[in-house]
Amino acid sequence: MKGIKIDFSNVFKPNVNSGVTEEEVKNYEQKISGILKEISENKPGFLDLPFNRKWIDSVLDIKNWVQSFENVVVLGIGGSALGNTALQTALNPLNYNAISKEDRKTPKIFVVDNVDPDFVSGIFEQIDPKKTLFNVISKSGTTAEAMANYLIARGFIDNYGLSPRKHFLFTTDPENGILRKIAIEENIRTLDIPQNVGGRFSVLTPVGLLSALAGGIDIIDLYNGAKDMYEKVISDKIFENPAALNAVIHHIFYEKGYNISIMMSYSNKLSFLSDWYCQLWAESLGKKTDLEGNEINVGQTPIRAVGATDQHSQVQLYNEGPYDKIITLLKLENFKREVKIPVIHSEVDELKYLGGKKLSDLLNTELLGTEYALVEHGRPNLKIIFPESNPYNIGQFLIMYEMQTAIMGSLLNIDPYNQPGVELGKKVTYALMGREGYEKFADEVKMKIADKKQIIL
Ligand code: PA5
Repeated sequence: MKGIKIDFSNVFKPNVNSGVTEEEVKNYEQKISGILKEISENKPGFLDLPFNRKWIDSVLDIKNWVQSFENVVVLGIGGSALGNTALQTALNPLNYNAISKEDRKTPKIFVVDNVDPDFVSGIFEQIDPKKTLFNVISKSGTTAEAMANYLIARGFIDNYGLSPRKHFLFTTDPENGILRKIAIEENIRTLDIPQNVGGRFSVLTPVGLLSALAGGIDIIDLYNGAKDMYEKVISDKIFENPAALNAVIHHIFYEKGYNISIMMSYSNKLSFLSDWYCQLWAESLGKKTDLEGNEINVGQTPIRAVGATDQHSQVQLYNEGPYDKIITLLKLENFKREVKIPVIHSEVDELKYLGGKKLSDLLNTELLGTEYALVEHGRPNLKIIFPESNPYNIGQFLIMYEMQTAIMGSLLNIDPYNQPGVELGKKVTYALMGREGYEKFADEVKMKIADKKQIIL
């Protein structure tokens, strides 16, 4: 079942008291037309991807080699990992790695996106290095977390006397960075990340494609979905362009003090799309300065939630807390699996209504309940409907949100493609971990920390 749909009804008046009007949206027509014109002219790299077979072919070329392993372990972080997890969870069974080899047919997929020793050892203990391919992903080829995990994996492979060339694949910038240098020196296979596509926009490059292909996902259909959605998101007619309409709606609410954007998935499989979205929205739009260099400190805080779980955690706040949240619900119409609730305790009146029903019906009824309550409480919400979780629909979702982020960046008059705010923390880590060239900065940091007033209870 192809094609996602976006139901915007509950962000508009009169459906929702705090909603926007069509006139308010129409006021953006000229602005959006200018933004779309500019985007079509200076096409950002991510928009070109689905039309270039090169990226798909680069991973298809090594399909047999990659799928000959028992494990494929991605070592990356941020944009070099979130898309991989989102694709695997949305498109493979949630217990994929636990399925027998005969039924699974394709390698187990692990994504190591942190340097927590408990987490990392937990994964390394599960894999046999002789049967493992490590896909080290880093656009810059320098990120501390990815590099540390590469060194750990490398030590693992070296200790077993295995050839790094046979167990490593680097996905990195075509020219720059340490990974590229090591790859050239040691003749390690590489996949290129297009230079004009930044980390959080790179899921449809070999960054996301390789582990998806390794896990048996139809990456061609992923591209087909992205291509078809492209035709919609490039239209300069707001009411025909879901990315533009959603960006405008988020912008209108943001201007009214709605500083929070929640993505609540009523599907565990789709819930990692929310993580992917959170990085995209936060890192792209949270900026100190506008394009003219004025300090503006903008950005809308994205939050991930899962239904029905978070109905028992967050929804009280959404319904009765401050009017500062716009909520996107993800609805899955057809689940891959079904569970029927057995009819037990038929004499207990309080349980009768559940017996014989499907869990998917319960979950989607709960979604309806949340939606209804949000409307009653005057809270703006919209719904993305996935007829099913398949590569085509996920491809559509990804390109739509990338475009929406680019448009929102223009509406906020900021550069959505940089991330200067993460640099300082990285520099401090380098300095305190003793990286060469950071000695003076390390002294400065240590002195500042020592001088700080301490309040520790
Ligand atoms: O979106 C981004 O650019 C970042 O989140 C990066 O993906 C993240 O910092 C990892 O960078 P790299 O791929 O260079 O290791």
